[in-house]
Amino acid sequence: MSVAESFTITDNRTGKSVEIPIEDGGITIRELRKLDPNLFFYDPAFLQTAACRSSVTLVDGEEGILRYRGYPIQQLAEQSTYLEVAYLLVHGDLPTRAEYEKWIHDITYHTYVHENVRKRFMDGFHHDAHPMGILVATVAAMSTFYPEAKDISDPEVRMRQVVRLIAKMPTLAAFAHRFSVGLPFVYPDNSLDFPSNFLSMMWKIAEPRFEPDPILSRALDVLFMLHADHEQNCSTTAMRVVGSAHADPYSCTAAATAALYGPLHGGANEAVVRMLTKIGSVDNIDAYISEVKEGKARLMGFGHRVYKSYDPRASIIKEVAEQVFTVTGRNPLLDIALKLEEIALADDYFISRRLYPNVDFYSGLIYQAMGFPVDMFPVLFAIPRTAGWVSHWLELLGDPDQKISRPRQLYVGPPEREFVPINLR
Ligand code: CMC
Repeated sequence: MSVAESFTITDNRTGKSVEIPIEDGGITIRELRKLDPNLFFYDPAFLQTAACRSSVTLVDGEEGILRYRGYPIQQLAEQSTYLEVAYLLVHGDLPTRAEYEKWIHDITYHTYVHENVRKRFMDGFHHDAHPMGILVATVAAMSTFYPEAKDISDPEVRMRQVVRLIAKMPTLAAFAHRFSVGLPFVYPDNSLDFPSNFLSMMWKIAEPRFEPDPILSRALDVLFMLHADHEQNCSTTAMRVVGSAHADPYSCTAAATAALYGPLHGGANEAVVRMLTKIGSVDNIDAYISEVKEGKARLMGFGHRVYKSYDPRASIIKEVAEQVFTVTGRNPLLDIALKLEEIALADDYFISRRLYPNVDFYSGLIYQAMGFPVDMFPVLFAIPRTAGWVSHWLELLGDPDQKISRPRQLYVGPPEREFVPINLR
């Protein structure tokens, strides 16, 4: 091994050294444990810690690169479909035509959910329940309808749940919306493609067949592709951590969906629209930027843990927005967003911290123009991210290096002390 491919760490307390090889761009903990098994890395939020080897998605934050299984996101967004991308993520390679057709057939015929999900769970929520809360709960509830899902050691059982999850998420998502606005549920239409079927379940009223505008259907499919995976983000990590305890995939997906609900993650697109609405006019942008710089507010839709350059998904989304607005009319918040981006990208606060628009800066504007209420934005993120979550779950279960996730801590609490009875305190 050449010197350049290893690290040498010396414990100055004992003078002992270990040479740690650099493998796949990382230094493994295996050798360091030989030096002192009770010495831990302090890395809250995993800034510098790789928790797995993965071959699903590559994000290069410096160069602004995103690839699924090696394919650049730009090529997929232009030439593929969400369901083909889901197949690619799950299986590792693009399907042949026969595999693709079978995959579409399988997904299409698993879109229905058990009637009791609708009757017992959906109907049990309060009328103004947030659809993301409904989604978290109903995905978790699905594990009770498919008890076989607990058998995670059987590859066929695993794949059946993967298909069910990808297929049923849009149905649960649309049901959550219909319930929250008091409209009757619309069942899946198996003659429609994946995005059109979702739009039908969202918007159909009394027409015999709902046929969405093809531009909007395609735009949604592109947005689904852009959101399908993003390697070890917060929700995928939740999926892996819960999966490492060998929970069934519905419970894991519920945990991942719950993580995605947070405003710093999947809730950011909702937060962007609320922020733009609050800013209200281009004239108020300078005042808002000042608040951000004083630490009183955050510029939602800006910044990313990994991307320190323009998020490649944000550039594609900007183009999708133009196409959508030809059908829906221009979202009036777009002017505020464009001006905000222009001002922020020229401001030293954002330049020095390398804060650029992320995927969520423009996606909310598209969703809003298409008629989705803001509460549905994180739900629209959860639908396609399910393909990524289940791909990582499958990878985790097949990885001999993985064990139950169990980080260590640095205890900084009080030393041992005597219990004092309550009347003496
Ligand atoms: N507005 C203002 N300042 C910011 C922002 C922002 N959006 N993001 C980061 N900063 C500042 C932060 O205050 C810190 O400044 P200082 O060095 O003076 O303390 C510096 O930039 C570094 O930020 P950080 O909080 O250490 O970065 P992080 O990697 O922990 O956070 C983030 C990443 C995405 C949570 C954060 O940038 C953020 O809160 N952005 C807004 C929410 C958002 O758009 N989230 C969607 C992320 S993309 C979709 C997804 O993957 O879920």
